[in-house]
Amino acid sequence: MTQAPSSAPPLPLDMIIFGGGGDLSARKLLPALYMAHLHGNLPPETRIIAVGRKDWTHEQYLAFMDEHSRPFVDKEALDPQAWDKFLALFAYVRIDIGAAGDYSRLCATARRGAQRVFYLATSPELFTTICDNLSACGLCDDKARVVLEKPLGHDFESAQAINAAVGRHFSESQIYRIDHYLGKETVQNLMVLRFGNAIFGPLWQAPYIKSVQITVAETVGVGSRAGFYDQTGALRDMVQNHLLQLLCIVAMEPPVSLDPDAVRDEKLKVLRSLRRMSVADIARDTVRAQYMAGAVDGEPVKGYLEEDNVPAGSGTETFVALRAQINNWRWANVPFFLRTGKRLPKRHSEIVIEFADMPFSIFPTGPRNYGNRLVIQLQPEESIQLQMLAKEPGSGMHMLPVNLNLDLQQAMTGRRAEAYERLLIDVIRGRLTHFMRRDEVEAAWAWVEPIIDGWKELADRPRNYTAGTYGPAASSALMARENMSWAEEV
Ligand code: BG6
Repeated sequence: MTQAPSSAPPLPLDMIIFGGGGDLSARKLLPALYMAHLHGNLPPETRIIAVGRKDWTHEQYLAFMDEHSRPFVDKEALDPQAWDKFLALFAYVRIDIGAAGDYSRLCATARRGAQRVFYLATSPELFTTICDNLSACGLCDDKARVVLEKPLGHDFESAQAINAAVGRHFSESQIYRIDHYLGKETVQNLMVLRFGNAIFGPLWQAPYIKSVQITVAETVGVGSRAGFYDQTGALRDMVQNHLLQLLCIVAMEPPVSLDPDAVRDEKLKVLRSLRRMSVADIARDTVRAQYMAGAVDGEPVKGYLEEDNVPAGSGTETFVALRAQINNWRWANVPFFLRTGKRLPKRHSEIVIEFADMPFSIFPTGPRNYGNRLVIQLQPEESIQLQMLAKEPGSGMHMLPVNLNLDLQQAMTGRRAEAYERLLIDVIRGRLTHFMRRDEVEAAWAWVEPIIDGWKELADRPRNYTAGTYGPAASSALMARENMSWAEEV
């Protein structure tokens, strides 16, 4: 059952952020809420209650925001008066998450009759305790909503346990599981590309599509997050959620509407159709690797093992490439190549749809086995390119590859909200379409977990790659053995 957005005037909002003094709040949530405030997208009488374990006064919390959050607000949008009005929405409540008695301070601050949104920007191990304590002090009414940050657990079992625990206090229609990639303008635009343009419909399947590549490349290293990252690795941090969600949008059947369950049902079917990998498949079809010292953007950078707080000899992967297979009619025998890594040469996320080769060429010169490619750039620039062959001017019929290029930033100049801003507004308005349902998260873990186990069984140490490259040679080899190549190698 889904919650229909209501046309009644909005209730006063109490946005209660657990982890209010943490990094995610400072860098992403508070700047996103500021932007929503600036553009009039917060309901009247909004209050933002930051919950943290530090013994801060209200003033100390505001000073924290000034120092750690304000620098992350887009400079052009930073209006000192609007920022001061924004600060006036805040209250700070100190809570030791495990101490049930501390929650009475939250009860005293939260307003009766307000629409409560609990944003759990903490480690997932704390979700159960927080929800149990909120419920025990009567704060979980049936209007309340709870937002769960990723990663939801560290494997199938822990995800199930968290879902069950949160589900004891909130119904599924009150639970917003965030994957911020689903809030990106470009990712939402993928749905429009596929389902708003009929020309792609008949071609969007085997045998007209030969392969799909999904790359999420980052230039950053682990930075100050080694404590979290070393326990997590690229497969859990990026593939289990962001990359699989992108794969779902590329591969899903047309949903009957944009109703949350209509969309999520179709994504779930894709996740359930992913072929489970055997240990032999894992050895052949996955590549895991860790960056060594190198240079990114012309600057020397450390290797993963030299980063602060990374345990000596850590075997955590910072790069994954793998070949996935979707076992259904539409995608039979079409490989999906997924790849993500830190300290790669440039920050970009893109999806490449490689169409089938031209069946026969009547032209005497030019490429023979040519397949058109649709390249969808998700970030940093938003563009769609169709690579095709055209005649080279002059005599003869020589063909050359050229690009039909749609620059979406130029074509549509409206303000592009950051993913967190868009998703927070969705939560406030009760729109669930761009959030993950319980069964989706669990199905994603059910596919990923055998890979984690397989790596353990194979005692697979990560390969090495030099920072500033696209991963180890084995990543290129994964595609080369099928006569294919990653987009930058063409
Ligand atoms: C987060 C991961 O979910 O996504 C980070 O935990 C990663 O490790 C980030 O850097 C990437 O997001 P974006 O929006 O910068 O592509």
